[in-house]
Amino acid sequence: MNYQIALNFEDGVTRFISASADESVADAAYRQGINIPLDCRDGACGTCKCFAESGQYDLGEEFIEDALTDDEAAEGFVLTCQMRAQSDCVVRVPVGSDVCKTQQASYEAAISRVQALSESTIALSLKGDSLKQLAFLPGQYVNLTVPGSDQSRAYSFSSLQKDGEVSFLIRNVPGGLMSRFLSESAKVGDALSLAGPLGSFYLREIKRPLLMLAGGTGLAPFMAMLEKIAESGTEQPLHLIYGVTSDVDLVELERLEALAQRIPSLTFSACVASPESTYPKKGYVTQHIDAGHLNDGDVDVYLCGPPVMVEAVRNYLQEQGVTPANFYYEKFTPSAD
Ligand SMILES: Cc1cc2nc3c(=O)[nH]c(=O)nc-3n(C[C@H](O)[C@H](O)[C@H](O)COP(=O)(O)OP(=O)(O)OC[C@H]3O[C@@H](n4cnc5c(N)ncnc54)[C@H](O)[C@@H]3O)c2cc1C
Ligand code: FES
Repeated sequence: MNYQIALNFEDGVTRFISASADESVADAAYRQGINIPLDCRDGACGTCKCFAESGQYDLGEEFIEDALTDDEAAEGFVLTCQMRAQSDCVVRVPVGSDVCKTQQASYEAAISRVQALSESTIALSLKGDSLKQLAFLPGQYVNLTVPGSDQSRAYSFSSLQKDGEVSFLIRNVPGGLMSRFLSESAKVGDALSLAGPLGSFYLREIKRPLLMLAGGTGLAPFMAMLEKIAESGTEQPLHLIYGVTSDVDLVELERLEALAQRIPSLTFSACVASPESTYPKKGYVTQHIDAGHLNDGDVDVYLCGPPVMVEAVRNYLQEQGVTPANFYYEKFTPSAD
């Protein structure tokens, strides 16, 4: 039986390898051209120490305390020269991808859908045979090259990869390079290249209630995460608050409804900040968080949106004196800055 291991490097690059139950993760990585730093290969030096974010595995009994203490093992640290996978795993490697002699993968694809969902938001799907090999953790992003330029822009996947197709939710920034291409000239069949996957904002194992906070097209990674949860299921309560600036920014509500039908423990609400809004719920996401969502801190908070919103939520949590069990965020920092 082969398992899929996501190796997430310090620089945000993620590579997926396959590992059988009877080879070490370090050996499997090496076989597939990725050199996790190793020295003794014997469980004695600790050079290959990484952190397993999720998954089941066996560390054996051969390693010594100097290389990995019992406390470290209990926390999730692993020696990859000893680790044998017993399920798919996500492993954080504490060095950059270049140190491991690997780099982000790139793919060629063609536009299969480009559609203005509203004045401010574009849905983009890309399809290609090479994308059938594209694996990523829901929540991650890729760099898309802007056709006709040497520049690229980062976009979070808003779907899982299915039959070589992936989707994105993109804000139409007036005058923006990618925005102009997508809103003025892009058509089905146009070629586009992707590089990635990247990022440490991805869905972890769900061990407690989740509070998901999305700002504008920061909804994208949550769509991919929720698709994954709809497939794998969870008993834990999930609450998503989706905040936008104006009524035109409010998109994909039907898709969210459909996901809530598939995930019985999911609830969500949306709110619009503009005072001119006719939407019933107004204000910022922080005005719609209640004590139940924070669960006395026993909650994993996922937050994605423009930098100003991410900072506002961080300050809000601090003011409330709430320290969530885990706090993951992605800032949609404009590339031009
Ligand atoms: C990790 C990551 C993931 C991202 N994922 C997404 C995603 O899923 N969906 C998405 O829509 N965007 C996402 N972004 C933002 C995206 O990469 C681009 O910055 C954005 O789409 C603008 O690109 P552009 O080429 O159209 O504009 P640019 O040519 O880059 O910018 C033109 C001008 O507009 C300004 N500008 C750029 N963005 C904004 C904005 N939002 N509001 C106001 N002014 C702006 C720039 O500073 C510049 O002055 C992500 C960014 C990061 C870092
Ligand atoms: S390489 Fe020495 S403990 Fe793994």
